[in-house]
Amino acid sequence: MTAREPIPKLRLGVNIDHVATIRNARGGDHPDPVRAAEIVARAGGDGITAHLREDRRHIRDEDLRRIQAATGLPLNLEMAATDEMVEIALKHRPHAACIVPEKREERTTEGGLDAAGQIDRLRPAVGRLLDAGIRVSLFIAPEARQVEAAMRLGAPVVEFHTGEYAHAEGDEVALELKRVADMAALAARNGIEPHAGHGLTYDNVQPIAAIPQLAELNIGHYLIGEAVFVGLESAIRHMRALMDAAR
Ligand code: PXP
Repeated sequence: MTAREPIPKLRLGVNIDHVATIRNARGGDHPDPVRAAEIVARAGGDGITAHLREDRRHIRDEDLRRIQAATGLPLNLEMAATDEMVEIALKHRPHAACIVPEKREERTTEGGLDAAGQIDRLRPAVGRLLDAGIRVSLFIAPEARQVEAAMRLGAPVVEFHTGEYAHAEGDEVALELKRVADMAALAARNGIEPHAGHGLTYDNVQPIAAIPQLAELNIGHYLIGEAVFVGLESAIRHMRALMDAAR
């Protein structure tokens, strides 16, 4: 029997939006997402993820520069494919830009981007970001037609929305997990680096982390919530340990 190939380390991107949500609840400057970014770096996180929403409900424009200056970690900027956001990305030049669907009335990013249904609309934004040397990722549902759309758009990365998996119950959990695993394999076979995120917790992260093709998970809400009880550094270290143990 041949020994199993070692699976490359899975990167952890920590989404610090909700530190800014708490800050903005009182309108001052505490707690500062920059301090969270520094803790991510100390705790072994591999990247900072932040979503600049159209309504600026959490991260604000000036946070981006401060977050980038605070640590040497790569910034993954989540953004809608609008002209305004593309201009901001070109100004700040994050390591990566993850294109997400955005509805003003939603509480969080409720589903994947329908890349298949709007290839022509997305093409200019994707092209401008790629031309500027920004790694483009598309936040999509784990569906073959969305992976194929990412291929047609020339996106080097896709991030699979794991919300359906996270909310599944009973037999549905295995089915949703298989969808993510199959689509991660499809993406990797076609030269696209697959990532995953949304709704991941200590309880549900390990089956996702065990999918060998996945290169990165982006986790936010649960870690920031857990940080209230144990501190952000401990929460990140625990998540990191669970992810590493699953590989
Ligand atoms: N990845 C992307 C593209 C997201 O938009 C989000 C936030 O919705 C996350 C990951 C993190 O999700 P959560 O906050 O549920 O961990």
